[in-house]
Amino acid sequence: MRVRTAVLISGRGSNLSALIEASRTADYPADIVLVISNNENARGLETASASGIPTRVISHKAYVSREAFDRAIDAALREAEIALVCEAGFMRIHSEWFVKHWEGRLLNIHPSLLPSFPGIHVHEQVLRAGVKISGCTVHFVVHELDSGPIISQAAVAVLPGDTPETLAARVLIEEHKIYPEALRCVAEGRARLENGLAIFI
Ligand code: GRF
Repeated sequence: MRVRTAVLISGRGSNLSALIEASRTADYPADIVLVISNNENARGLETASASGIPTRVISHKAYVSREAFDRAIDAALREAEIALVCEAGFMRIHSEWFVKHWEGRLLNIHPSLLPSFPGIHVHEQVLRAGVKISGCTVHFVVHELDSGPIISQAAVAVLPGDTPETLAARVLIEEHKIYPEALRCVAEGRARLENGLAIFI
């Protein structure tokens, strides 16, 4: 049986599209069966609906605390019998409770070579620092922002004349390759989190 997987989004949803596309290929071990957005206007919701995938909008604004919001997400995940969760452009920081509860079953993608350049405005940070290589990272989520054990990375050259937009576009192409591969590894049990470390078989 394929691993029931949910994707958490807040916006465009291009990584969501890449995951859905991968999940439609023969022998892919994960099935995207639920998409949750905290933002009702997220474009990714339309992508999910067009693919016949159930969606839920759970607005953080309706909850008094981070944990209360996370508990609503958790309830939706449990109701759909979700085993793995992929964050893809999900712009909320989780409570410690949620991260602990989903430890080892919660993945995120970040558009830099972590641990360099966590946080937001990533490509601006990269260009300001003048590094020549950037890239993207899929990692297990831990409580510290953008710093969990790494599952997969891809490098992208920073080119002379790059703007945040041109660099983001080239990094995104790699994101769409490594996220489905990382999810495959975790869903097949070839990558897992053990004592705070990513273990590969
Ligand atoms: C991606 O660059 C991802 O790495 C970052 O947010 C962006 C989301 O893009 N966390 P999309 O919504 O998947 O198109």
